[in-house]
Amino acid sequence: MTQNLADTSRPAADATAHEAGTGASRGWWRDAVIYQVYPRSFADSNGDGMGDLPGIRSRLPYLRDLGVDAVWLSPFYASPQADAGYDVADYRAVDPMFGTLLDADGLIRDAHALGLRIIVDLVPNHSSDQHEWFQRALREGPASPLRDRYHFRPGKGENGELPPNDWESIFGGPAWTRTANPDGTLGDWYLHLFAPEQPDFNWENPAVADEFRSILRFWLDMGVDGFRIDVAHGLVKAPGLPDLGGGDQLKLLGNDVMPFFDQDGVHEIYRSWRRILDEYPGQRIGVAEAWTPTVQRTANYVRPDELHQAFNFQYLGTSWDAAELRGVIDLSLDSMRPVDAPTTWVLSNHDVTRHATRFANEPGLGTQIRTPGDRALGLRRARAATLLMLALPGSAYVYQGEELGLPDVTDLPDEVRQDPSFFRQAGQDGYRDGCRVPIPWSGTEAPYGFGPVAGGPSWLPQPAEWAQLSVEAQTGDPTSTLELYRSALAVRRAQADLGAGTGVEWLDSPEGTLVFRRGSFVCTVNTTAEPVRIPAPGRLLLSSADAVVDGGETVLAPDSTDWWAV
Ligand code: GLC
Ligand code: CA
Repeated sequence: MTQNLADTSRPAADATAHEAGTGASRGWWRDAVIYQVYPRSFADSNGDGMGDLPGIRSRLPYLRDLGVDAVWLSPFYASPQADAGYDVADYRAVDPMFGTLLDADGLIRDAHALGLRIIVDLVPNHSSDQHEWFQRALREGPASPLRDRYHFRPGKGENGELPPNDWESIFGGPAWTRTANPDGTLGDWYLHLFAPEQPDFNWENPAVADEFRSILRFWLDMGVDGFRIDVAHGLVKAPGLPDLGGGDQLKLLGNDVMPFFDQDGVHEIYRSWRRILDEYPGQRIGVAEAWTPTVQRTANYVRPDELHQAFNFQYLGTSWDAAELRGVIDLSLDSMRPVDAPTTWVLSNHDVTRHATRFANEPGLGTQIRTPGDRALGLRRARAATLLMLALPGSAYVYQGEELGLPDVTDLPDEVRQDPSFFRQAGQDGYRDGCRVPIPWSGTEAPYGFGPVAGGPSWLPQPAEWAQLSVEAQTGDPTSTLELYRSALAVRRAQADLGAGTGVEWLDSPEGTLVFRRGSFVCTVNTTAEPVRIPAPGRLLLSSADAVVDGGETVLAPDSTDWWAV
């Protein structure tokens, strides 16, 4: 690939008009609504049942009209797909199943012409086991200098038959796999925090750091506006790879500092990346996927000389409960203020049960839920939760299909499942396929416009009810979730008091409700199952349910959010 892509156009002028608003003039990303595309499941251009880059490209006008600012693409790089592309074999190539580098170039250019920014996924914690470095390290045997780019160790026990330490894979089973030497004898073990097909890089090796700086530049030169950094908290391991020493490791994850997660050394890496991002014009950003024990520790990733944003997983994990929501909102805002980073908000992504299904079930079931629950309740709450999220100060993430109110598909047959975790945990966990089902666009027959032909394939089967949830079916219906998202994003753009900001002003309100003000904007939320009567705060702008305004009073519908102008 030798084309000169360095002149890739920047987002069109009309896209930057929005930046005239409040804090946004300090950076487009401070109030951006960023839409996550999961390439496998967004749009399939050639009818092989797998979404692809030309498919995404053809649907960009839909995203522009929806009203989002940027698109984050989950990995589309060359990959054997052991973990749906989060196992990268070549960081500078597009997997043929998704298209070509020229398709990526065209997608970036088209997006910019429409005023949309593009964020790509970067997977620096591990590569695929098919990556050239790893393959050579295996082929060349224990003396290979390439081994030091990963974590190879001799096993414990008399014959090296035990793993080098007690770490477990996030996907289940030991975090180590034993290799065979070139002569066929049993050899060293290698570390993989995820699947065995995802060996962890050794970030102490300068070649690894150099390579990733070069990969950053490759995509920046292609014109991307930023990177979502996969497992950003995992790159550095505690010296000596110490044992964890008992306990239920999976339960500890995210609650404790682990010898393989959230080590202080990761921050030096992000400082060096920030210097590269800053060399490029147009405010290129880095977004950390960092699961840390506290929001305060998450804030470390977005100090002024590090990354720009970090996902707010504490918010994602919060139940539909006024007091809990208020607690996490305050905590999030308070934690980001000292580092001057925007707070981010997210309700769904490709790793968790969609929020329409989380809120349909009893709280406390976690993010891998296997029961549909009360669908209508879940959707009502999901719509309310979205309006709340979009009213908060900072940047918000929307996961493809949530604008259609899609539930998780909880009854996928085991034969179609692909989540590697499902197989490693013997069906105890690994239900992420349920949120990855291809989305419905149009028509009455599967794949509902996901692919070009009715009756054609889709890599995961779609439920028959999705015909009624398609983009086509919802467009123009004022009661649809899609039109709610479109209206909400339009109001958010038009209201100077929405978007960037560092705080909200809480107003007194009855138990189970939240009322907060931002300038001349007020948001009211009722998380209870009962209607609640309060003084009307102003003129109704938007309602997730049927808000009734009656003289000077309003009745907040059960599980609803309303937006008001005062
Ligand atoms: C991140 C991704 C997830 C993937 C894992 C390993 O958590 O979001 O999908 O399985 O990293 O790369
Ligand atoms: Ca395809």
